[in-house]
Amino acid sequence: MKGIVLAGGLGTRLMPLTKITNKHLLPIYNEPMVYYPIKTLINAGINDIMIVTGGNNAGEFLRLLGNGKQFGLKHISYTYQEGEGGIADALSLAEEFADGDKIVVILGDNIIENNIVNQKEAFEKQKEGARIILKKVPHPEHFGVPELDGDKVIRIEEKPKKPKSEYAVIGIYMYDYRVFDVVKTLIPSDRGELEITDVNNYYIKHGLMMYDALDGWWIDAGSSHDNLAMATQLVIKTGANKL
Ligand code: DAU
Repeated sequence: MKGIVLAGGLGTRLMPLTKITNKHLLPIYNEPMVYYPIKTLINAGINDIMIVTGGNNAGEFLRLLGNGKQFGLKHISYTYQEGEGGIADALSLAEEFADGDKIVVILGDNIIENNIVNQKEAFEKQKEGARIILKKVPHPEHFGVPELDGDKVIRIEEKPKKPKSEYAVIGIYMYDYRVFDVVKTLIPSDRGELEITDVNNYYIKHGLMMYDALDGWWIDAGSSHDNLAMATQLVIKTGANKL
């Protein structure tokens, strides 16, 4: 299984911090933000990793991460997203890297307290399709929100005004080979982006989506200044990426 960290986008919600750097290079306590999702993949046993980045400071990722030696990796792959076409657009750039394998995609600003070892093992056993991870949150309207029927997800809505559950779809997604063909069928949303939620809804519609819950905290550290500060507080208090 291969891992893809999505670290493109312009990070406008974190201005002026992101005026001169990429948001995933900002510090979360004692490490740059992008270290956390990389470690989430490595903790799950994924060592073949691609970073998708973009914007004016993409070269800094190479300076920071190099060949991945500090994480015990043999190499890291990189690619560059032009513009800010959305999460699914960033993912589309990893098609050749994935080369037909199953993939775990993680958003570069998503940090978790523990690990996704069980979820990844469940996906290894899953014959086909996709797998998402849900977390109960106080404000689901800020995220992709699943509508549940018993133990089935029947639809996901992106930042709905009236959420149909108390859960967020966190930014860690597992897909089989067909994801890149799904992305090719997408049309940009009202915010002008190719939405990962539309990819997930394709899998749901075709009966190919499974889900797991996440234990421990999860934070979307790059979505606001408050969340950026909160992420540092959480890491100081409990640590992150615990096995
Ligand atoms: O954090 C979880 C949420 O992430 C999900 O619940 C939502 O369904 C999903 O759409 C996403 O929502 P956000 O609006 O918070 O995504 P954001 O635009 O902040 O992008 C998240 C990461 O994706 C960002 O850290 C870098 C990467 N990205 C984003 C865009 C728009 C790219 O690599 N390229 C892009 O063009």
